[in-house]
Amino acid sequence: MTQAHTLPDTMHAVAISTPGGPDVLRRQPWPMPACGAGDLLIRVAASGVNGPDLAQRRGQYDPPPGASPLPGLEVAGVIAAIGSAVEGWQIGDQVMALTNGGGYADFVAVPAGQALPVPAGWTLSEAAALPETWFTVTQTLVLRAGLDPGMSVMIHGAAGGIGGAAIQIATLLGARAIAVVSSAAKADYATRLGAVATIDYTSENIATRALELTEGRGVDRVLDIIGGAMAQTNLAASARGGHIVQVSTLDGAKAEISLRTIMAKQLTLSGSTLRPQTAATKAVIASYIRAHLLPALAAPGFTRPMVTSFPIEQAAQAHASMEARGHIGKLVLVSPFGAGQ
Ligand SMILES: NC(=O)c1ccc[n+]([C@@H]2O[C@H](COP(=O)([O-])OP(=O)(O)OC[C@H]3O[C@@H](n4cnc5c(N)ncnc54)[C@H](OP(=O)(O)O)[C@@H]3O)[C@@H](O)[C@H]2O)c1
Repeated sequence: MTQAHTLPDTMHAVAISTPGGPDVLRRQPWPMPACGAGDLLIRVAASGVNGPDLAQRRGQYDPPPGASPLPGLEVAGVIAAIGSAVEGWQIGDQVMALTNGGGYADFVAVPAGQALPVPAGWTLSEAAALPETWFTVTQTLVLRAGLDPGMSVMIHGAAGGIGGAAIQIATLLGARAIAVVSSAAKADYATRLGAVATIDYTSENIATRALELTEGRGVDRVLDIIGGAMAQTNLAASARGGHIVQVSTLDGAKAEISLRTIMAKQLTLSGSTLRPQTAATKAVIASYIRAHLLPALAAPGFTRPMVTSFPIEQAAQAHASMEARGHIGKLVLVSPFGAGQ
């Protein structure tokens, strides 16, 4: 292993003291993570807050076997040590990475295949807000559902983390993003990210509007995080040959749907969770992002996702803020190292 000359023996991390509400998050001393042969040890400047962190904190989404028990699925920072089998990185490089957990900490070790360079001009807080959602959307909507240029894609929760990533990725790939939101402010944000049309579900019928916006054809792809009754709405809004990607079930894991509609329209309904995927799969996703999406992120006209920062000592407030559903874009926790940058 190659390492920066001074690494501490211990660090601080935000741990889940017991399953429960935001106040069970405690920043406390924690052992330094080991940097394996295929890993990068990252000194964390900022870590993104994601829906799965909230589910893990509530005791509803346990880490896979062998993964860190700490929350935090994405970080950006500086490389502090490099495993003996890793090539292509230097100590001190800025990096953003999908973790296997453990991001709410001063240091985290990640498989090198899950790390990406920070786009030129981006802050480390902006970079920390990217990996979890961009990996999820790339794996599901792009690699699995085959999003192609010219397709229309209806995106639920469009002003949130997953939704915002889906708008930007779809737009970069030449697809037409139709954003489903709950307010004018969220519609405005989705439009700034690239959505060609918005549907406000508080005042409009989603399926009717989706059909209007596609000259009666329906949408080619749907990215859904809502579930429950939205499943039937998605079928009604879909075009023949459409594909609905389910990545969360915020309004319910069970649904009554018309199998006849699935048959008649020749639809596909697929689902996935990112965290249990193998390191090899995550590395394939990272390679796709690096080759096909990352170059555009450094372009001067690219709209970076909106990021609201909290000092990591206020992790509980960040979780409460996400649960209140008022935020737009992403929330990140800034570590003492990140605050000093
Ligand atoms: N499958 C995977 O691998 C994977 C990976 C990452 C995240 N996820 C999941 O994806 C979901 C979204 O994550 P995110 O980071 O995008 O969250 P987020 O930033 O909080 O965004 C969620 C969006 O959905 C909207 N929404 C509609 N109904 C909702 C409801 N019943 N509860 C909460 N929000 C609702 C919210 O806006 P309005 O309230 O204004 O409509 C909000 O904009 C989470 O459940 C997360 O666990 C799955």
